[in-house]
Amino acid sequence: MKVAVFDTHNYEKQTLLTAAKRQGFSLHFFEVRLNAETVKLASGFPAVCVFVNDRLSEEVLAELAGQGCQVIALRCAGFNNVDLKAAERHNLPLLRVPAYSPHAVAEFAVGLILTLNRKLHRAYHRVHDMDFRLDGLMGFDLYNKTVGVIGTGQIGKVFAQIMLGFGCHVVASDPDPDKDLIERGVNYVNLNDLFKTSDIISLHLPLNKNTQHIIDKEAIELMKPHVMLINTGRGGLIETRALIDALKANKIGSAGLDVYEEEEQVFFHDFSESIMPDDALARLITFPNVLVTSHQAFLTKEALTNIADTTIDNLSGFFAGKPLQNRVEISR
Ligand code: NAI
Repeated sequence: MKVAVFDTHNYEKQTLLTAAKRQGFSLHFFEVRLNAETVKLASGFPAVCVFVNDRLSEEVLAELAGQGCQVIALRCAGFNNVDLKAAERHNLPLLRVPAYSPHAVAEFAVGLILTLNRKLHRAYHRVHDMDFRLDGLMGFDLYNKTVGVIGTGQIGKVFAQIMLGFGCHVVASDPDPDKDLIERGVNYVNLNDLFKTSDIISLHLPLNKNTQHIIDKEAIELMKPHVMLINTGRGGLIETRALIDALKANKIGSAGLDVYEEEEQVFFHDFSESIMPDDALARLITFPNVLVTSHQAFLTKEALTNIADTTIDNLSGFFAGKPLQNRVEISR
């Protein structure tokens, strides 16, 4: 069975090939992203496999269905890049990888906190420059600080547990509070109280029309001065302009961003020998107290293996006519 795999990267090919070989699938790798211009490449493939920045619009889904595609396998958890209603209309089931390693993302968020707080990114460059002074590198103890976790699903839960281990007070906001976290001492509060009391805020909720720009000018105004903001969720959760203004005004003390609102144009590409086109991102990168990474929080050996295995198992189950556990449910 042939699968057209879009937006493929060298780091993932081997794990995908290993999983595919086990189940008898033949993968055809395309480095380009799936969108209205590239969809013709998938012609004749009964299955299409996509990643976070492929664009599954109405137009693309209609074309895929017309070309004989029967199923779409997302090799990620989020599905904000898919027009769900259109997928349903065109009878294209969406299969995803709901969990591949919550630890990978949670540990990365903690890495951003430690790096920004103790300014390891600056210390690294300073020492390379044979400059051994400590001025400007002061951080704060994490112990006893209040960490606000927005979204305590699989990733947010692991993150909250790690921060409890540092001796932090953890407050959380989630419409579906986690009983185990409450027993461990996590205090669920409303979002405004989380904004008002947190020294560090970390985003672990999905992006949808209700959560887009959950961090906007008004939310930032409620926050403590010099708050640290961490986003490993999705870029659209933060209104970039409001973040830049708050950084310039020294209201936000530091920001760790593994995702960015307009990342689709830039992330996973090499602009080292050309001009990076995004002015807002360029501005963010100039702040010494901002650390931008290119959507890499998931990138561990364990996570890649789980992604590959689940993606291929999903396809195998579909073509064998088995019940689809990892199908994206479309709410009406
Ligand atoms: P999950 O579905 O297990 O948890 C999401 C939680 O957010 C749920 O508990 C849900 O009730 C909560 N939530 C929904 N709306 C909310 C709101 N308005 N306010 C507060 N909480 C809300 O998802 P999981 O696996 O923990 O992933 C979280 C997000 O992390 C994903 O949606 C994805 O966007 C992002 N992600 C990022 C990765 C990266 O490499 N940077 C990798 C994997 C996921």
